[in-house]
Amino acid sequence: MATSATARAGANIALVKYWGKRDARLNLPAAGSLSITLAALETVTTVSLAPEPAADEFFLQGRAEDAAPVTRVLDLLRPPAGPRCRVDSANNFPTGAGLASSASGYAALVVAAAHLFGVELGARELSVIARQGSGSAARSLFGGFCQMHAGELPGGEDCHAEGLFEASHWPLEVVVAITDRGPKAVSSRDGMNLTMATSPYYRAWVDTVPGDLALAREAIARRDFEALAAVAESSALKMHASALAASPGLLYWNAATMACLHAVRQLRADGTPVFFTIDAGPQVKAVCLPEAAGRVATMLTAINGVREVLRTPLGPGARLV
Ligand code: DP6
Repeated sequence: MATSATARAGANIALVKYWGKRDARLNLPAAGSLSITLAALETVTTVSLAPEPAADEFFLQGRAEDAAPVTRVLDLLRPPAGPRCRVDSANNFPTGAGLASSASGYAALVVAAAHLFGVELGARELSVIARQGSGSAARSLFGGFCQMHAGELPGGEDCHAEGLFEASHWPLEVVVAITDRGPKAVSSRDGMNLTMATSPYYRAWVDTVPGDLALAREAIARRDFEALAAVAESSALKMHASALAASPGLLYWNAATMACLHAVRQLRADGTPVFFTIDAGPQVKAVCLPEAAGRVATMLTAINGVREVLRTPLGPGARLV
């Protein structure tokens, strides 16, 4: 029997956002979401059997971290009283700054752990497990374009991700403008919980998601860039509107974030195929057609307050190394 397994997974970025839960304990989202998986921003995770039966250990970028969240996910895959593990995870992009490190991290973890424990599950079943670590992680099991289904069952057995199209269907590119390298002030989890509990706009936000999912799916199937741009920007702005209306209001953006949003809108008005999306942090993700990526990167690099610009095509789903 192997004593370790390694998997890699790309980060993903939601074009129709997940923001709120129907069950916090099982980590079930209140609505579906739709994302693209990125090739160049990835996590590589190795799960090794620990020689002595101690507790699980978790190292992120070589530093020991709280292993409890990792143990919860490992326990869904290993036999009862099975061996403890050492988990080593490394991101090739800034961790915890609103760049979906938990998404690629849990996706790589479940693929590696399932292999190590000899559990034969497909990507859909693994997405149900990854979701219990982090909702957005379920989507990194698939490459290209992916939809997360909220499901209806109380236990969440029907709450899984689904691959819609491979990356080759529509080779979009993503240009990420990093405006702040520090960790975010309020995590996605805390931010969405606060929004659910206090925002008068939360219900209205959740009610718009199914319509946006249908529009986004159709736009992707037809490769209709303008239609995808409209629904993706709308979804991101509505998510932030619900968060801004929480108490206290969640303000994830800084001045450079705002300048990037205006620059992307201006580029599009001038005929460049590009749109923005933003998660629970100050970075701006500009999604564009490949021929526009150079222009978009140059434009964003020139903005005051932009520290770094990353470029990536779409990539494959989580896989064993
Ligand atoms: C803004 O998946 O990090 O990135 O399920 O509580 O771990 P938990 O939340 P998480 O939230 C992601 C929120 C988002 C939007 C998205 O990725 O859909």
